[in-house]
Amino acid sequence: MTGKSVLVVGGGGREHSLCLGLSRSASISEIHCAPGNAGTQEIATNHSFSAAEDLVHLAFQLGVDFVVVGPEAPLCDGLADNLAKMEIPCFGPVSYLARLEGSKLHAKQIMKSNGIPTADFHVLDADSDIDAALDDFSTNPWVVKRDVLAGGKGVVVTKNRQEAKDFILTSIATDGQVLLEDFLPGEEASMLVIMDASGYVCMPASQDHKREFEGDKGRNTGGMGAYAPAPVYTNEVQEKTIQQIVEPMFKALSTGKVPYRGVLYVGLMIDSNNDPYVVEFNVRFGDPECQITIPLISSDLGDLLFAAATDSLESIRVDFHDKHALTVVLAAEGYPGPVEKGRIISGVAMPSDESWVNHAGTMMQNGNLVSNGGRVLSCTGIGDNLEDAATKAYALVNQISLSGSHYRSDIGHRAL
Ligand code: AMP
Ligand code: GLY
Repeated sequence: MTGKSVLVVGGGGREHSLCLGLSRSASISEIHCAPGNAGTQEIATNHSFSAAEDLVHLAFQLGVDFVVVGPEAPLCDGLADNLAKMEIPCFGPVSYLARLEGSKLHAKQIMKSNGIPTADFHVLDADSDIDAALDDFSTNPWVVKRDVLAGGKGVVVTKNRQEAKDFILTSIATDGQVLLEDFLPGEEASMLVIMDASGYVCMPASQDHKREFEGDKGRNTGGMGAYAPAPVYTNEVQEKTIQQIVEPMFKALSTGKVPYRGVLYVGLMIDSNNDPYVVEFNVRFGDPECQITIPLISSDLGDLLFAAATDSLESIRVDFHDKHALTVVLAAEGYPGPVEKGRIISGVAMPSDESWVNHAGTMMQNGNLVSNGGRVLSCTGIGDNLEDAATKAYALVNQISLSGSHYRSDIGHRAL
């Protein structure tokens, strides 16, 4: 029997990781990726596209059995809704459920109405008393969040009152309103929950490294590296997270007219009492969390993603390797600011079962592998313990040469 064909939407390290996982799935015989990168090109057919409509058209033309959406923007723009009209199953929620990521205020309101632990907050607009609101949360750094998709640049955490106020004022000027949140102390973890109308499956929790430099210093990035499982996510934390966060979210999201079908990314802050709080929801796999979560799934990835796209999660079994995975992002010169593209990359080792390079911002140009984005590659290792996984990942990254590139040498530092 031939397997299913799938279209993966996106072109980063996350999508290369999804394509790699799908290429190892017995249930999948054909992989398409739009737009993809130089890595997906080796295991899938890449397609260029320009708008959400084109993606629906592409999926229809290719006759794929289902679509897996990597990034949030097409989901917020209604890709899953439009695919549903064509009766093409989609791993990724419809637009009104994708608002969980698209609007931080909406996410807060869902959390509030479902009793989910999260930071207290104020919604501020042009008529608000901003100083009174700042006074309310003045014992800790201020956390200001824009209520729009801002590509990782919508949050300011600062002890500087003027900086907080300035960000509040500019956000109100551009967006009409802004969130001011109470600061949550603790350690962060990312929990990915695959969900549909019939049930949910929690992936091993991971930890991202969002700042650009060692010791969590410097600017915020999309993520400079990650590892799983994260030891901060103990059995006690897991029990509380499932009971206080995942179960109520599943009840809220699975019972609507259109259920949530895809992965819910739960960004957690775990405090010193081992109590979990939600920092954010995303409606997609994390990047680079995906690169270290997918390889820990030992059962068929194609079956898992197709099941979630068709409300049949309850009928499949999902197993995990008893292993550790770690990935180190190699970023272009200037990242997370503007970067120059088109620089030649060399030294990418052949993949093995224990370590491989995930392509992100890469493309082929005149027969050369060249950079094509801020996060260029992520080097991933898997092993019996975290040290082993880290050694393998760093052995790969150390061989790569890309002029001006940088990476963090301390990925996994909280656990190692
Ligand atoms: P977000 O986009 O909401 O995940 O915020 C980006 C980052 O800001 C998070 O990963 C946290 O490191 C930090 N952050 C956001 N909200 C809070 C909060 N209420 N307390 C402490 N840190 C926060
Ligand atoms: N690595 C964080 C994210 O994907 O949002």
